[in-house]
Amino acid sequence: MHPRSLLTLKLLLLAAIAAEGCDVAPTTATATEPCPGAESLLSPGGLPTGFERCADGAVNRVEALAVPADGLGHACTGGTGAMECSNDNACTDGPRGQCVGDWTEADDTGEARRYSCVCQYHCEDDSDCEADEACVSSWVTDTHIPAFCAMAECRTGEDCPERECGLSAYSDGCDVGVSLLCRDAETDTCRVDEDCPKASQSCGWDYQSPEFFACQTPNCAIGRPLLVEGGPRLAHATSRADWSEAASASPDGAPDAADAPNDAQRAALAVHWRAVAAAEHASIGSFARFTLQLLALGAPSELLFDTQTAAADEVRHARIAYGFASRYAGVAVGPGPLPLHGAMPALDAPGVLAGLIDEACVGETVGAAEAGAAAAACRDPQVRSALLSIATDESRHAALAWRAVQWLVNAHPELRAFAAERFTTAVSALRSAPCRVPALDLAAHGVLAGQEKQRLREAALREVVEPLGAACFGPAATSA
Ligand SMILES: [Fe+2]
Ligand SMILES: [Fe+2]
Repeated sequence: MHPRSLLTLKLLLLAAIAAEGCDVAPTTATATEPCPGAESLLSPGGLPTGFERCADGAVNRVEALAVPADGLGHACTGGTGAMECSNDNACTDGPRGQCVGDWTEADDTGEARRYSCVCQYHCEDDSDCEADEACVSSWVTDTHIPAFCAMAECRTGEDCPERECGLSAYSDGCDVGVSLLCRDAETDTCRVDEDCPKASQSCGWDYQSPEFFACQTPNCAIGRPLLVEGGPRLAHATSRADWSEAASASPDGAPDAADAPNDAQRAALAVHWRAVAAAEHASIGSFARFTLQLLALGAPSELLFDTQTAAADEVRHARIAYGFASRYAGVAVGPGPLPLHGAMPALDAPGVLAGLIDEACVGETVGAAEAGAAAAACRDPQVRSALLSIATDESRHAALAWRAVQWLVNAHPELRAFAAERFTTAVSALRSAPCRVPALDLAAHGVLAGQEKQRLREAALREVVEPLGAACFGPAATSA
């Protein structure tokens, strides 16, 4: 059931029980003005957007206004990469189609170069959107789409028991998700990003999770992230050919013509593989950091050897992924510098154990399962073959992580309870992390659908990760 339907049902049932004499008034309305001292958010041209910012920083939609026409732009008039479109005239599947650059980079002269162009359709007001959507402008959300139909449980505060229709806009690591939902002082665990315990978290709503504002952790990668202060560190993409493994050289051949992606799918796959590639590239750094940690703790030689091998695997994974990103984009893509400030490792046993549990035991075990499932559904022989080899490697990396944890806990039995608690936290963080639903069905090209990924993740946590945790850390770790 859609959240808007749930809200309607809730209001209906509250009204029904109120009619029977139940006292529901205190939970359905408040006599005080919501969000006192709010300031209106204006477009760059000074026009009202219908949104306001409360004194605590929370942003709410207060009026369903037409999106002001000033500032619309970002048109992609041509590029060098995969093209769903080359100009606006090619975008005819929705209202006010625009051909926009998916990825831009300044060239030597400082001029913006656009590589991949995709169609975007933007609304002018709520009447352009479905009943459970609202027309939201980019000036409020900081996305690159001028104005678009966002999922909406409410359109203004009038739709909400507490009269606050809140804006949720945050990145899951790959994509910015935007939605509107009613704020609820009882169930919401945050109002603004600053309420979240980790600097990398955002306060927002994912439509697959319960309907309230909660701290969301970016999570959009297979494998071992390089976490710094709780968030993944990634290199930006740049134009270079030396990180692309030649996908065309694969012995597994090209996809059948019937399975070849269309232009829109190719553009989406370029974006997907660029994100995967950045994560694989960062994994090299994660293993490099782990090498130093193992050395500092006097680890056995086979753990060091396997860690070095795993780092080399990640170089290969990154090359494969940048190769696919380049193939789908039609232009060579590779990593820029990896920002490493603040990424130097903790060298004490608790710090190493914490990083190992956060980065590897949970993430790589689930990542191996996800890569295997993505391969099984994939009909492109080159991509399937690559995913299968990545799945095999990631399984080995997961095994390495669990072996290293076992060694550390045996060497420091006083840390077993700490490890159990950390493990429980890491499992529940991944369990509640959103899996964004791709706009296109790309399963035949090796990209799991959001719902499938969520089901698989839950199964992997329940059937694999938690039993392993219980075995390593004791029964306390099974209560996640
Ligand atoms: Fe990897
Ligand atoms: Fe890995």
